[in-house]
Amino acid sequence: MEHTNNFLIKFKGCYFANTQLNLEILENLDDFEIRDDDVFIITYPKSGTVWFQQMLCLIYFEEHRKGIGDLETVERIPFIEYSPQKVDFAEKPSPRLFVTHIPYYLVPRGLKNKKAKVIYIYRNPKDVMCSFFHFLKKLTASATDNFVEFMKLFLEGEVVGSLWFDHIKGWYEHKSLFNIQFLMYEEMKKDLRGSVLKVCKFLGKELSEEDVDAVVRQATFENMKNDPRANYDNKLKTFFGIQKKGHFFRKGTIGDWKNHMTAEQNEKFDMIFQTKMKDFPLKFIWDM
Ligand code: A3P
Repeated sequence: MEHTNNFLIKFKGCYFANTQLNLEILENLDDFEIRDDDVFIITYPKSGTVWFQQMLCLIYFEEHRKGIGDLETVERIPFIEYSPQKVDFAEKPSPRLFVTHIPYYLVPRGLKNKKAKVIYIYRNPKDVMCSFFHFLKKLTASATDNFVEFMKLFLEGEVVGSLWFDHIKGWYEHKSLFNIQFLMYEEMKKDLRGSVLKVCKFLGKELSEEDVDAVVRQATFENMKNDPRANYDNKLKTFFGIQKKGHFFRKGTIGDWKNHMTAEQNEKFDMIFQTKMKDFPLKFIWDM
């Protein structure tokens, strides 16, 4: 384990954030006991993690769908690696839902039994990079608040989750080891209802039309932004250590990179993308 700055910790070749990181869990992840009905959400940061947490909470928990109680999505679907030191996931009742940014090679061995389900959410990397940049600007201990510098860090993988290209390719190229479904942020954005139905089918969840409507209604950007169970605002300080007042939610759009990148930066990005993602079969959506 290596500390690179105040904010990043490198563990087995991958960067993690130094806030709330539960090293004990990470170190023992290989032996983490998996149940057949476990569900893992996997994302590279800033790809729609919190959005999908909300979607899954709404699909799985009737009381969340009906707005009963005030349990936050992150309490219902905890981060594996960013969790309180004393948490004992073995005591959690089934079905257990988890979220994590880990690369494919750090997953619990038991996930390869192909019974537990994995959903990998991905987003076009230019928007990921811009979203990441704004998020880090909110952090007091951020590495940089200069976009040019941040693009360099992003393209070198000097950020939480390490290199975007390695993360998605690692998971995709090893997909035959898992019971996994890939879902695109932009697809959720363009067809939320269709995405909810696709996820329900994968999970074997049968919801009534009315329940599907309730999921869709409460998983929109506008709704989530104002829903304290889903908008992470309460977690800015406790979870991310952000002292400034602010909101977790930003724009939630496709193509915001066009407001950030110059033609030259875009060209450079495209060249790297084409080299690294040559022959990669998943398609990306870059604008609305
Ligand atoms: P922006 O910064 O581009 O607005 P993560 O949860 O992985 O950190 O991803 C955060 C990104 O997801 C942010 O992107 C956030 O606005 C966006 N997001 C969250 N909920 C959303 C929703 N319901 N619809 C669209 N985008 C959403």
